[in-house]
Amino acid sequence: MNHHNDQHFRGIILAGGSGSRLYPMTQAFSKQLQPVYDKPMIYYPLSTLMMAGLRDILIITTPHDRATFERVLGSGEQWGIRLSYAEQDQPRGIAEAFLVGREFIGDASVCLMLGDNLLYGKLDFLRTAVREHSHGATVFGYPVQDPERYGVVELANDGSVISLEEKPAHPRSNLAVPGIYLYDNDVVGIAETLEPSARGELEITDVHKRYLERGQLRVVPIGRGIAWLDTGTPESLLEAGTFIHAIEKRQGLKIACLEEIALTSGFITPEQYERTVRSMPSSDYRRYAEMFIPKS
Ligand code: G1P
Repeated sequence: MNHHNDQHFRGIILAGGSGSRLYPMTQAFSKQLQPVYDKPMIYYPLSTLMMAGLRDILIITTPHDRATFERVLGSGEQWGIRLSYAEQDQPRGIAEAFLVGREFIGDASVCLMLGDNLLYGKLDFLRTAVREHSHGATVFGYPVQDPERYGVVELANDGSVISLEEKPAHPRSNLAVPGIYLYDNDVVGIAETLEPSARGELEITDVHKRYLERGQLRVVPIGRGIAWLDTGTPESLLEAGTFIHAIEKRQGLKIACLEEIALTSGFITPEQYERTVRSMPSSDYRRYAEMFIPKS
């Protein structure tokens, strides 16, 4: 039953929100389109979902920014994927993504990624989690120095979950929960019954608590070898850009070049790849992508 499990997974990228912490930059345009060094922010989570093997992806934006996202990303055909768009009219919380995306999800399982999260490194842990996921929820735990800014999970020695808290003033561990999550189809029903939190949002941590109560929450610790960065403040945005710049400059390889990922994933043919690259304006990005045009 688990064969080709990735086919049963649909991806959602949540790129709504007011981006208030990036004011006044977000007066100009959406947080998830701000540059992280040489690409719009959303390229990074999109590349992560593509590398996890997902090809059917819903982008949730504010009503105001939707047209810009559609202009920047289009139908996804150029990358051999299918992009759909939906709107979250108010920032009512991450878990509202499952209500906004209800029809898109249908009877599939869901991988939700936040549009301002950036994961870099060998993503085998994610591909394995997608492949092995059959029911319940899978989230990850990543050690950070400032867990109070995140959802925090406390694990027992045997890996079972002791507690989960959203932005605790006194964190019980240093394991934060990054903004990429896997769920079975029950997540839609769970989201329907959530109550808004004190800050007026449908909290993703409350979804995870429900799965925990059912004995269906897995937490996979990740850490060494993976960079998880967030980009929600001017400083963390700059740090993320500096990080991407340092790696790209050292290796001469780009992170999150969507055309390259589509080609190496077999989502597009070499001919399609070449056509796409030849239609790009002259730029570093194009010169990079030209390196992978198959020699005839
Ligand atoms: C959200 C989640 C939090 C998670 C974080 C990851 O926080 O509520 O559990 O750890 O994303 O980026 P927010 O960024 O919405 O404050």
